[in-house]
Amino acid sequence: MPNDPVTPGGSPTPYDAQLPEVTYPKTIVGQPALVTGAASGIGKATALGLARAGADVVVNYDGDAAPAEDVAHQIEAMGGRAIAIMADVSKEDDVTAMFAKAVDHFGTLHIVVSNAGLQRDSPFEQMTLEQWNMVIGVNLTGQFLCARAATREFKRRGVDAKLSVAAGKIICMSSVHQEIPWAGHANYASSKGGVMLLMKSIAQELAPHRIRVNSVAPGAIRTPINTSAWSTPEAYAELMRLVPYKRIGEPDDIARAVAWLASDAADYITGATLFVDGGMTLYPGFATGG
Ligand code: BGC
Repeated sequence: MPNDPVTPGGSPTPYDAQLPEVTYPKTIVGQPALVTGAASGIGKATALGLARAGADVVVNYDGDAAPAEDVAHQIEAMGGRAIAIMADVSKEDDVTAMFAKAVDHFGTLHIVVSNAGLQRDSPFEQMTLEQWNMVIGVNLTGQFLCARAATREFKRRGVDAKLSVAAGKIICMSSVHQEIPWAGHANYASSKGGVMLLMKSIAQELAPHRIRVNSVAPGAIRTPINTSAWSTPEAYAELMRLVPYKRIGEPDDIARAVAWLASDAADYITGATLFVDGGMTLYPGFATGG
């Protein structure tokens, strides 16, 4: 079933019709997974996708509980197990309490997807320290705190060969902006550049413990974070100048990549960034110039 495209300006784009069938092979059955920022957007699709692939899911949220509870109920309606847990990932005590609750509920965790992220855009000169700290706090410090808590749990438990050949999998949600500089978004690009070397450094450190650490780097995905980039036909056309594959990404494009990276099918992959961006990182301007 194609996912739920919200088409710009209400009319279908030529590409929505070509969205691939969304299927999730049952590759992570019984593995408890925690997804941060799972009440909306990419996190929500990832929580649902991991559940379809067989995982039990912790749906993390910060703020209003109702959308996260709804995601958890959708998972239960598919026959899966889920629990919604509140935590601000930038706060150490919140993260500690969330992991304790998750382990208490599901016994352990095998997969942690550090997805929670936000933007506070501003011309550089006007960027406030609060805007800077907020973005670094959630997007980078949040990933540090969640990866550290995941590592402690994975090492405590070790490999459970009934479920996976790895002791655990950490997947960081990065962005094409770990590579592409982004005027007006210095805080965001810095946070994602930081995620890249956080991910690689801990991948190197944790590999001997059979903990795999990888990133998924989305391009432009149809979510609330970037509505202004796709919600009018003009904006959509402008966006397509940056996307060689000529369609916006859907949250499920990301969720399927995460589900695969989390599975033993990707067991020899660690320290990698999987760009899921329709070619956005291919210097689209050079298609006709240079
Ligand atoms: C940002 C989006 C943006 C996309 C491509 C993402 O990381 O959150 O706002 O549309 O990168 O530029």
